[in-house]
Amino acid sequence: MRTIIYLAASANGLISNNRNVPDWLSQEYGEGFMAISLRTQAVIMGKTTYNVLAPDYLPIKEGSLVVLTHNTMAEPAQSNVLFTDDSPEKIIEQLAARGHTEAVIIGGTQTVSAFVKAGLVNEIILVVEPVLFGNGLPLLKDIEEAEYKLSLLEVNKLNNNTVQLHYSITNN
Ligand SMILES: NC(=O)c1ccc[n+]([C@@H]2O[C@H](COP(=O)([O-])OP(=O)(O)OC[C@H]3O[C@@H](n4cnc5c(N)ncnc54)[C@H](OP(=O)(O)O)[C@@H]3O)[C@@H](O)[C@H]2O)c1
Repeated sequence: MRTIIYLAASANGLISNNRNVPDWLSQEYGEGFMAISLRTQAVIMGKTTYNVLAPDYLPIKEGSLVVLTHNTMAEPAQSNVLFTDDSPEKIIEQLAARGHTEAVIIGGTQTVSAFVKAGLVNEIILVVEPVLFGNGLPLLKDIEEAEYKLSLLEVNKLNNNTVQLHYSITNN
């Protein structure tokens, strides 16, 4: 199973500002988000991110949309939503058992951190947008004294101001 993080980040590495309004995201980020979701057919996100996207902007109507939450009895916005409080290991096992060979983790910080901490992420795609945030959410948190080495697989300039960095994580 190949697990990929796909995130937009400010040029100083934050994935959200304190206003929490996504007006800094490029069209190209949105297109990449849809493309990787459709390709993998297995999308993992946290409940806070789901609450931003549901019901109108969830990226896939079929396949598996896994949402981490402690409230697993909540009413899902559509039939492919799976609310779960299982561990990252179990989630990946279950996706593999459903026949998925790839999964994309689309945020936010808590969810990305849980999968990185569990050593379950193979690749990370960062869409670096032309903005600096004084405050906001980091890409990772609460992973004490961890360092992850990356290998650069690809760099793409998506428009005049936005760059996409594609890395593999080498030491998980
Ligand atoms: N830049 C980007 O590409 C990007 C992408 C996505 C999101 N974001 C931003 O990221 C922010 C959200 O990030 P976040 O870290 O606050 O939230 P998140 O990871 O989206 O969701 C956090 C929630 O997920 C559930 N959760 C997390 N770990 C869990 C576990 N081990 N077991 C069960 N449930 C678990 C909990 O929900 P319950 O409280 O329901 O239990 C928790 O409150 C938003 O501001 C959003 O705009 C940015």
